[in-house]
Amino acid sequence: MSKTGTPVTDVPATTPDGKPVTIFDTTLRDGEQAPGISLDVGEKLEIAEQLARLRVDVIEAGFPITSQGDFDGVKAIADTVGTHRYADGGAAPVIAALARCHPDDIRKAADALKGADASRIHVFLSTSEIHRNVMLKGASEDQIIEQSVEAVKQALSYTDNVEFSPQDATRTNPDFLLRIVDAVVEAGATTVNIPDTVGYALPHDFGTLIGDIVRRVGDDAAISVHCHNDLGLAVANSVEAVRNGARQVEVAVNGLGERAGNCSMEEVVMALNTRRDLINKSLNVNTKEIARTSRMVAQLTGYPIQFNKAVVGRNAFAHESGIHQHGVIQDRLTYEIMNAEDLGYTGAQIVLGKHSGRHAFAQALEEMGYTLEKEEIGRAFDRFKELADRKSDISDADLEAILADELYSA
Ligand code: KIV
Ligand code: ZN
Repeated sequence: MSKTGTPVTDVPATTPDGKPVTIFDTTLRDGEQAPGISLDVGEKLEIAEQLARLRVDVIEAGFPITSQGDFDGVKAIADTVGTHRYADGGAAPVIAALARCHPDDIRKAADALKGADASRIHVFLSTSEIHRNVMLKGASEDQIIEQSVEAVKQALSYTDNVEFSPQDATRTNPDFLLRIVDAVVEAGATTVNIPDTVGYALPHDFGTLIGDIVRRVGDDAAISVHCHNDLGLAVANSVEAVRNGARQVEVAVNGLGERAGNCSMEEVVMALNTRRDLINKSLNVNTKEIARTSRMVAQLTGYPIQFNKAVVGRNAFAHESGIHQHGVIQDRLTYEIMNAEDLGYTGAQIVLGKHSGRHAFAQALEEMGYTLEKEEIGRAFDRFKELADRKSDISDADLEAILADELYSA
């Protein structure tokens, strides 16, 4: 969209090397780590199939060492979705599995991924001082580097597509962070992911950090980001990272994930799409599948979507105030910066309530098949306003009742 909301079609939307930004979806791994979510293999497969329809580039299908169910889920997805061919000849998404920097984890991940046409092993190890002291028995920086390099090399013996994540990167000593990034790239990691594990980063600082790493690594590896939402900044941090050269963004549908969740897929995709005038990057995602994906994930995980959530909330395209309705009825760009149809919705919703105006009221009646004289509309509108003051949700049945009174009471 341009500043006025007109779709932009003539911008060469690419990363500096001409490739689209990779959307790495971790709904089935980090998303499933949200308290209370437990998906069975069939449900995981259903979500993975929808993610393929959505055309995400990478599906992180699980963490195979953690349970037999997780292993089975990754394997089922690798064997089916991972071998899918699109009607237009497009390749199946890359199927990824998570592993700690432990030989058994990596073997298990490789085993689960065997059936996929293209697979990625994602290894991670904590690098911040607090994690090293508390979680890794005081392991030194050199020990962490050595273990990470070994893990990357082992993973490369199974696939040529290996991602490394220094966990809690944003609370890691920056010199050490750069050292470990250099070491794993030298060992052959093809993607280096910079996780903001506890959602601690602020957009400007995070963008600067990512820019520094991108310049240092150059074309030797793709830099990715994985932002948690503890301060509500996961999307802002991810967008800032892309502006500074990150080539992959890790996301979860509806922003699911540990604690306050991960960067929301729908929000970051639409931010990058809508502001292509400023962020000149392309994506492979088919945005028309966003609404369906969001609904399916909400239903299968049992995590409802808040009404006012950006992009996919019930109110995202709903207009209640009379002034807004008056504008949107004439030209939706007055109060909308995205097209609901581009996300797979049927269109903007005019919600009748106490703030609604006469125009919206008359349009609603017309859509219900009623054509009234001006005075009739006036009287019915007064009755509607009285009712709306007492009742927050005005249904078609309420309108019918008002009209019955107006049309047949004389
Ligand atoms: O938040 C995190 O650090 C993770 C890693 C495993 C990438 O989820
Ligand atoms: Zn995470």
